[in-house]
Amino acid sequence: MKYQFYLCKNIELFLCYLTNIIIYYDYYMDNTQEVTPWNVTTSNKFMKIDYHKLIEKFGCDPIDGSLIKRFEQVTNCKAHTWLRRGLFFSNKDLNKILDRYEKGLPIGIYTGRGSSSALHIGHLIPFMFTQWLQDVFSAVVVIQMSDDEKFFFKGTSEKKDVEHYNKLTYENAKDIIACGFDPDKTYIFSNYRSCGGDLYQNVVKISQTVTGNQIRGIYGLNLDDNMGKLMWPAFQCAPAFSNSFTSIFHKKGLFSEVQSKESFSEIYPDGTCDFTGKHIPMLIPMAIDQDPYFRMACDFADKYKKKGYIKPARIHAKFLVDLKGVNNKLSSSNSTTAIFLSDDLESIKRKIKKFAFSGGKETSELQMKFGGNLQFDVSYQWLTYFMDSDEELKNIAHAYRFGKMTSSEIKTTLSDEIVSIIKKHQEKVKLITPEILHKFFNKNREFDMSIKKREPIELESDENYNKYGINFDIYFGTDVLLSKETLEYETLLYKI
Ligand code: TRP
Repeated sequence: MKYQFYLCKNIELFLCYLTNIIIYYDYYMDNTQEVTPWNVTTSNKFMKIDYHKLIEKFGCDPIDGSLIKRFEQVTNCKAHTWLRRGLFFSNKDLNKILDRYEKGLPIGIYTGRGSSSALHIGHLIPFMFTQWLQDVFSAVVVIQMSDDEKFFFKGTSEKKDVEHYNKLTYENAKDIIACGFDPDKTYIFSNYRSCGGDLYQNVVKISQTVTGNQIRGIYGLNLDDNMGKLMWPAFQCAPAFSNSFTSIFHKKGLFSEVQSKESFSEIYPDGTCDFTGKHIPMLIPMAIDQDPYFRMACDFADKYKKKGYIKPARIHAKFLVDLKGVNNKLSSSNSTTAIFLSDDLESIKRKIKKFAFSGGKETSELQMKFGGNLQFDVSYQWLTYFMDSDEELKNIAHAYRFGKMTSSEIKTTLSDEIVSIIKKHQEKVKLITPEILHKFFNKNREFDMSIKKREPIELESDENYNKYGINFDIYFGTDVLLSKETLEYETLLYKI
């Protein structure tokens, strides 16, 4: 009896210790990665960002097979490679967007870009995906070019005036337009030059609901920061509501289902009036670091629910890793290693050859014996984005992992893909005339709100769907086939 009692007590104590260890481990792990709107990094060169942790921390939901199945069922479109491969991996309320589309009702899409001196290939990812979503949902897209944000955050250190960032807006917009946005369904705006009217009215409402302490808590800003930085979050949130663009989304007479004559206020002496009806739900595609803004937007929407405000839905991308290693997202400040959309094709090849961190081994004998590590091989990681066919990617994964492909061969494969994407992109940019650019920036025109109907597509088996999204194995089963020698060799090599 006594013996049993001690045993139980000991087990209890042991479990208690174990939980503590797990809690400390968790805490420690969380401190080794930082993901904020200003910084994305992990402390160890070989540690990748833990996206499951981010989903948990940000209170979002993973994109899994059942969501992808429903997406295909409702939209009659095959899921984008990036959805299937779990590169857009997390969401909030995407199901609500699908419910709405299922009823034949419109949705809006909002995304944005801080004007910068040159866009690199990683910047294209959210825009290529947004353009695809535009096509799938026949949605009007609004794109905020946050030249003012960049002035607040970079103006002092870069010693540049606000006009500088405003000019960059139009240059960057050409790269964005070249992703194939529909001119009749897309509005791009410089926040610096055009934030006013109904968009500004939402900035006012949002600002009044958030305290300085909350801004410090969410964004880590403080009273030493300039006032522009402190107020910026309200500006990034405001376009997440359809009534910020009344003349586009709530034109009188549109959508009798969602608005009636009573949806507008009286006309004020200055000739304007407010939209007072129920909003159109907005979907925001973005890299996950931007999510804090939109959690703030959701808190605000809650407070304004009775006035027709809807929480924005979000869909999040992982970061394209830096050429130099998987622990950093690509950044333009690494100007020697980033691949810019304006780079000439030869220098792209040179950069990949010279800088792409290789998971390959030092000599060809060792490579044949131990193969290349796919997790740390930046060329392989990039191919998961830019190589469309799963079949080809799988072949590369197996050949490279098991030493039948060399590091320089995988680099050449990547180089060919990137060069072809950038070449096509540059050709499209050349075709953008000042007239086309002006059209995208002009709000006072007709926007095409029609919704395209599609024939149903054939769905896959549930077994297939279960392997998609967050469960997609981008290493195609190579991990479990590794020999003990390889595992031991790499543990020493990478100190993992
Ligand atoms: N803050 C973003 C950046 O620094 C730009 C941005 C503005 C944005 N509005 C957005 C990004 C909406 C995603 C969604 O690049």
